[in-house]
Amino acid sequence: MSSRKKLIAGNWKMNKTSADALALVADIVTAVGRQTDVEVVVCPPFTSLEKVAAELEGSTVKLGAQNMHQEASGAFTGEISAPMLRAIFATHVILGHSERRAYFGETDALVNKKVISALKNQLRPILCVGETLAEREAGSTLKVVQTQVEAGLEGVSKELAASVVIAYEPVWAIGTGKVATTEQAQEVHAFIRGLLVKLFGDTVATKVRILYGGSMKPSNAPELLAQKDIDGGLIGGASLEARSFVELVTAAAAIK
Ligand code: PGA
Repeated sequence: MSSRKKLIAGNWKMNKTSADALALVADIVTAVGRQTDVEVVVCPPFTSLEKVAAELEGSTVKLGAQNMHQEASGAFTGEISAPMLRAIFATHVILGHSERRAYFGETDALVNKKVISALKNQLRPILCVGETLAEREAGSTLKVVQTQVEAGLEGVSKELAASVVIAYEPVWAIGTGKVATTEQAQEVHAFIRGLLVKLFGDTVATKVRILYGGSMKPSNAPELLAQKDIDGGLIGGASLEARSFVELVTAAAAIK
């Protein structure tokens, strides 16, 4: 049994108008807004963050953003900063998602700056790492993940490291319906835990939650979530409907 509370985070990506977001979050709050067995986070698009924050008031469900700029303020047209997210009571921010890396050119160095900025502003980064299909087939999965974890967390102090969440998301499993096998996922999660031991020591490594992401859904979640080093899920597609998202929270709560 693990001392880490499971975490289920919904990454809504570029989906939902504010009205749709509000309807979805209302259903989520009704179903799981009072439970404390599982930490639940929803990450809507920027346009509905504030309304969703208001809907979450008084519930146990937390608010996350999907990205942010590394600077606190300034002439960065179109960007949003960590202090702005804190000001609307966000607690988490997804950083370095593979879609940001692939379509928006985010490098490990940039992701690292964002991680540092998030932590400085009391936001918990959900740092995403994971290999592409070509990298897996070339046998370089662990090397790729190691680089992304080490570079992403460079300069993070031991004290702050425990509040980081890592999401292992094999790129080939995201939105494809192809889920990693429990063995494939657990192998990488255990490897990441080992890296954290080397970087920050046992106590911190034991506290950090490592989520799995990539086509996680109610049918495959129980087996994945039962793995020793899988502490929850970062959910895309299945987070867009209250029913499947709530089922995932229930699946996480059932693991003892
Ligand atoms: P998916 O997305 O659940 O739709 O595969 C996961 C993610 O990209 O975080």
